[in-house]
Amino acid sequence: RLLIIDFGSQVTQLIARRLRELNVYCEIHPYQNVTDAFLTEFAPKAIIFSGGPDSVTRPGSPRPPASAFDMGVPILGICYGQQVMMQELGGLVESGHGTAEFGRAFVTPADDRLPLLEGWFADADGREQVWMSHGDHVSKIAPGFQVYGTSPGAPFAITADPARDFYAVQFHPEVHHTPRGAKLYENFVKLAGFTGDWTMASYREEAIRKIREQVGDKKVICGLSGGVDSSVAAVLIHEAIGDNLTCVFVDHGLLRLNEAEEVVTMFRDNYNIPLIHADESDLFIGALEGVSDPEVKRKTIGKLFIDVFQKYANEIEGAEFLAQGTLYPDVIESVSFSGGPSVTIKSHHNVGGLPEKMGLKLVEPLRELFKDEVRALGHELGLPKKFIGRHPFPGPGLAIRCPGEITREKLEILRKADAVFIDQIRKHGLYDEIWQAFVAILPVRTVGVMGDGRTYDFACALRAVTSVDGMTADYYPFTHDFLGETATRIINEVKGINRCTYDITSKPPGTIEWE
Ligand code: XMP
Repeated sequence: RLLIIDFGSQVTQLIARRLRELNVYCEIHPYQNVTDAFLTEFAPKAIIFSGGPDSVTRPGSPRPPASAFDMGVPILGICYGQQVMMQELGGLVESGHGTAEFGRAFVTPADDRLPLLEGWFADADGREQVWMSHGDHVSKIAPGFQVYGTSPGAPFAITADPARDFYAVQFHPEVHHTPRGAKLYENFVKLAGFTGDWTMASYREEAIRKIREQVGDKKVICGLSGGVDSSVAAVLIHEAIGDNLTCVFVDHGLLRLNEAEEVVTMFRDNYNIPLIHADESDLFIGALEGVSDPEVKRKTIGKLFIDVFQKYANEIEGAEFLAQGTLYPDVIESVSFSGGPSVTIKSHHNVGGLPEKMGLKLVEPLRELFKDEVRALGHELGLPKKFIGRHPFPGPGLAIRCPGEITREKLEILRKADAVFIDQIRKHGLYDEIWQAFVAILPVRTVGVMGDGRTYDFACALRAVTSVDGMTADYYPFTHDFLGETATRIINEVKGINRCTYDITSKPPGTIEWE
């Protein structure tokens, strides 16, 4: 296994992700925990020093343990990791002098006869785009090292001591803006002797072992939303601890057509996981009566959700842990944005405040994974393909797809229209190309003519977007034929709707949901 020593970079998890893509097993450990004894016990086959925000010129800044360099295993230092390696091995690092670089840079080879660089400088003009983000720079390389690549701001962009298998780069090969950076990791793990035989199946085994270690014979409760993340977390935890897991599925009456049955059936019938189906739709719909302000809707639902969850959770005697399907992007966003100057666009509904309120400890087995990896894990756990690939669905559910006041009648109409739209998308084989698609029912009635009669019914808007992470989005370019056919189907099949529009707003300036 490979050890990543984390010096605090924002993108350390991306290193792990690149390695998992190469089917190499790795673990990230914060530098504070990596002592000489830890290293002996861990016995890594290779080590990577991550980047980090500190300056090695500052006394007391983070260091790897000295024994790391005596283990006879390959080491790759990235950014701060490069600088700390140079400093520790007898080189020099300096701050300033106008050599800070942030963003795109190009590295040209000084010498490419290095296994780490094999096949890397393949560009016609022999230079590679990389991503730099550093204030300090190496001003003298350590004895035994040689320069293999340079950039305008980093004369020591790539350095190595091949005899000892020590490699150090100033840029970040793990990020998207170093387009061919994965090749460096591939070369590194190859020269370290990894054969790439680690798979999602191994991840599953390891995750199960860790859950057992953390939870022991204590009880865990898990709030199920029916989404992919909480479902995968629940199935994984159930594999680890069996019926010491109880899931609570809060049905707020704002779900899509047949959604509650699908979720309950999957968990009870396919997995035999203890599940409380908390049908609290009357409570939620009642509380939302007369409410049309989007923020009031969101806050009302969020607060009730916590109350209801707590009520059911209290029935499970001896629960000490709360399981959540937190993913890595959630972790990073909440870290980098906490206390930041950003304004609240929408109050996202989640169970954030619950653990403290209930005195529960958290189990978050997906914290290191990205969405597509969670889907792969779900696949590994045997969750139905259709379930794993489902579009995201917001916590407040259909409430925020029903601008203005919510009524049972409107929800009923919305459910049917939404089901027709999704059916159309599936039939045309477009579901997996689209990040999210849904119908919003508009708070206006319009006049139409059907048969020979006049209609006065609701209008609806179709919304379908492409996106990578939900932060930005663009509308999906359906063909006119598709849109025409869908509008006809909705108006013919859904009583209560007589007009259909397609929302072509991107995000920004719009948001994906209507509220
Ligand atoms: P917006 O509408 O902000 O949505 O562009 C971005 C993504 O987040 C989802 N969303 C939510 N998810 N709780 C959630 O779990 C919420 O309160 C919530 N609001 C929006 C939305 O569906 C889209 O995928």
